[in-house]
This record gives sequence, structure tokens and C-alpha cells, in this order.
Amino acid sequence: SWSAASIVEEQIERIRAQVGDGRVICGLSGGVDSSVAALLVHRAVGDQLTCVFVDHGLMRKNEGEQVISAFRDHFKVPLVAVDAEERFLAKLKGVTEPEAKRKVIGAEFIRVFEEEAAKLSGAKFLVQGTLYSDVIESGGGTGAATIKSHHNVGGLPEDLEFELVEPLRALFKDEVRAVGAELGLPERLVWRQPFPGPGLAIRVVGGEATKERLDVLRDADAILQDEIRQAGLYRELWQSFCVLPDVRTVGVQGDERTYGYVVVIRAVTSDDAMTADWARLPYDLLEQIASRMINELREVNRVVLDITSKPPGTIEWE
Ligand code: XMP
Repeated sequence: SWSAASIVEEQIERIRAQVGDGRVICGLSGGVDSSVAALLVHRAVGDQLTCVFVDHGLMRKNEGEQVISAFRDHFKVPLVAVDAEERFLAKLKGVTEPEAKRKVIGAEFIRVFEEEAAKLSGAKFLVQGTLYSDVIESGGGTGAATIKSHHNVGGLPEDLEFELVEPLRALFKDEVRAVGAELGLPERLVWRQPFPGPGLAIRVVGGEATKERLDVLRDADAILQDEIRQAGLYRELWQSFCVLPDVRTVGVQGDERTYGYVVVIRAVTSDDAMTADWARLPYDLLEQIASRMINELREVNRVVLDITSKPPGTIEWE
């Protein structure tokens, strides 16, 4: 039997034994895994830890600020926040193909992270939020074809010269959340839905991830999140998000013809993302979401619902 408190104690001992008085670096993504891993290490070795948060400009609305305020202001964890939006957008210029987007973002992420790591000279240890399920998956070797490369922004190449600290290696996701709650991680971060490493770039689909399209998507997504939370459905859904196709359609508002973006609502239930069911959101909620998006977002004149399960669809559109 386990309790979150005993896991915390045990891991703190292990981290101290591994790290000694060495300096430690941790890439924060805003997700629950890297957050909990960072907090455990901070509990264990205090300011020997420095966290690095690379904001690639592909996060959801206010997400970067939430991570920074939780770690820097609330937990007093030494944190380097890098605003790398312009660098990523420059690299994404002209890139339209989904796997190409993932590659560009992954490579740039490593470059930015390495630059920051180099400034923290003497750091010998790198924290990774690897879970038990990740250990099994990577050791599984089923030979299954890769459908998407699943670049994870937390995942760094092994040739970085660090010794890995992986305090979540024996834990399942629900245990990680319990440990996070035990450590005082804000509810919003403990229960955050999964978010792909390449972020919103793979949700502005069928074309380039421009600042303009990312901003429209970010605003639409914020309305969706807000309504889903208010309806009390956020935790029940595996993921709920918007997709912005590179398509405009004709509409009419007042006496005017409009020509605007289509926003897709994507919400699924799932246990592990291997399969997923499209979520039967209440009609009234869908109505409320659609009318808010169209009224509040000048660029949007149509909202549609994705009713594809996985398989045959994937959860993300790219
Ligand atoms: P799909 O779209 O393949 O997604 O059904 C399954 C789960 O994986 C997430 N996903 C990613 N996560 N980097 C990540 O870290 C990625 O490149 C990536 N692509 C998809 C997706 O959000 C879903 O939870």
C-alpha cells in the first residue's frame, strides 16, 4: 500500500542520496509530470535545483504565467523563464507538414534548453518526469509503426552530458497527481489535461503556424476551457481543445457577409489515449461555446464539432 506522503519521503531520501551537493537542472513544461518531479527535487535539495521553462509561444492562454507564478512566486524555486516565441515562430515559417512541425519544434527546444543549461555551469544532474508507463512503453519494443513521432518537449536527447534524476519512474499518473496535491501543487496544475509538446502548432492544421492563427486558436481555446470548467466537465474529459483548420467560410452577421475561420471543438474521453471516444457534450453547452466564440472572436464565424472516435481518428488532427 502506498500513501502520497510516504512516496514523497522515500523519493526525497533517494534524490538526496543520488545528488549529494551537486547542482540540478529541470525543464518545466507546465504539465503535471515535470511539475511534480521538480517539486520533489526542490524539497530534497532546495536551491541546488534550477528550473528552466521554455515558452515556445505555442502554449494555451496564460499558461506560461501560471507556471511562472506557481514555481517562482509561490514555491520559490529558482526558475529561468525563456521567452522564445519569436525564435520558434521564425523556425516554423513555411512549415506546413505535421511531422515537420514536430521536428522543427523539438530541435529548437533542445537548442534553447542547451543554451540555458550552458549558462548554469556545473549542473551535473537533469530531472526528467518519466513515469512507469513511459518506462514500459519505451522498453516494450512492439515494433508497431510510428503514427506520430510524439515529440515531447520534456524529452531531451541522451547525449546531453547529464546524469538523469527520475523521481516518478515507479509511479502511475494517479499517484503522480496525489503526490502533486501532497506537495501543494495548485489544483489547476495537478489536474491539467494532457497537452502535446508541440503545443498549438499542431492544432492550427493544414498550414503554417503563424502568430495570427495561433492567437485566434488560443482565444477560442480559452473560451472552450472556461465553459468546460464552468460546466464541471474538465476532469471527466481526457482532453478538450480547439482545432483551427486553414479554411475560411462565408457567414452572415447583421446585414454583413463575413468570411472567417472555422473553429473545431474536439473533446474526448479516454483512459490512456490509445483509444478514445468523442465526448457527448450537452447541446446547451455546445450552443453556449459556439455563440461565445462567434460573438467574442471577430475572426471566427463558424463552429463545428468533431464526432470521430479513436480509432479511426487520432485525438489530435495532426
Ligand atoms: P493522438 O493524436 O496520436 O494523440 O491520438 C495521443 C495523445 O498524445 C498526445 N500527443 C502528443 N504529445 N507530443 C506530445 O507530447 C506530441 O507530439 C504529441 N502528439 C500527440 C495527444 O495530445 C494525445 O493526448
